[in-house]
Amino acid sequence: MNLSIAPSIIAAEISNIDNIIKKINESQADVIHIDIMDGHFVPNIAIGFDIVNFLLKYSIKPLEVHLMVTNPNDYVDKLEKLKIKNMIVHYEAIINDFSILEKIKKTNMKVGIALNPNTAISVLLKNNIIQYIDIVLIMSVYPGFSGQKFITKTSYDKLYELNKIKKKYNFKIEIDGGINMTNIDYLIQYNPDILVIGKSIFHKYDQIISKINYFKNIM
Ligand code: DX5
Ligand code: ZN
Repeated sequence: MNLSIAPSIIAAEISNIDNIIKKINESQADVIHIDIMDGHFVPNIAIGFDIVNFLLKYSIKPLEVHLMVTNPNDYVDKLEKLKIKNMIVHYEAIINDFSILEKIKKTNMKVGIALNPNTAISVLLKNNIIQYIDIVLIMSVYPGFSGQKFITKTSYDKLYELNKIKKKYNFKIEIDGGINMTNIDYLIQYNPDILVIGKSIFHKYDQIISKINYFKNIM
């Protein structure tokens, strides 16, 4: 299994971002996860393009953007120009118009779709959108904030279901929220491809590299 680690930069101390980015560069991280929140789709505002531009300049790792916004359409051209690797939109934000998936598919970016804890995996099949999707991101917390508790029941059930669907379709399974040193051993039995981890990586500055590498080599 080739497990990818995506440190979630929202949990990093932004005032120390220049040193933190050096540590991420030195680590075995695969991609940097950037949470963009509009204060409308979720009750929080986070990560502006000043930080995205900073990361583009200093990170040797590719970037992925997780859009917790009501209008993800506004971001396609912009993120494409910035050469973002993965663009992840929320199913709940595009429920009335799935055309954005086709639009992202035409760019060089990978198409990611995020599902809130209360959204079932079956929506991906019912609406026949699975064909466009490169990454399914399971939210294992309610989106909006770093440092929340992992929601056990819905998350593991969904990972189980996704593994079944994966035999037929070609996508990666990503999981985001509340992953830590305690639940990681159980979680990896469900074969996720990408782990998004915030607080557990960043809460001790001198352990950033060792934590990233620990998760990367957990298998
Ligand atoms: C939550 C975000 C996550 C979160 C992960 O809305 O999408 O990326 O910050 O951070 P931790 O690992 O602290 O839950
Ligand atoms: Zn996220």
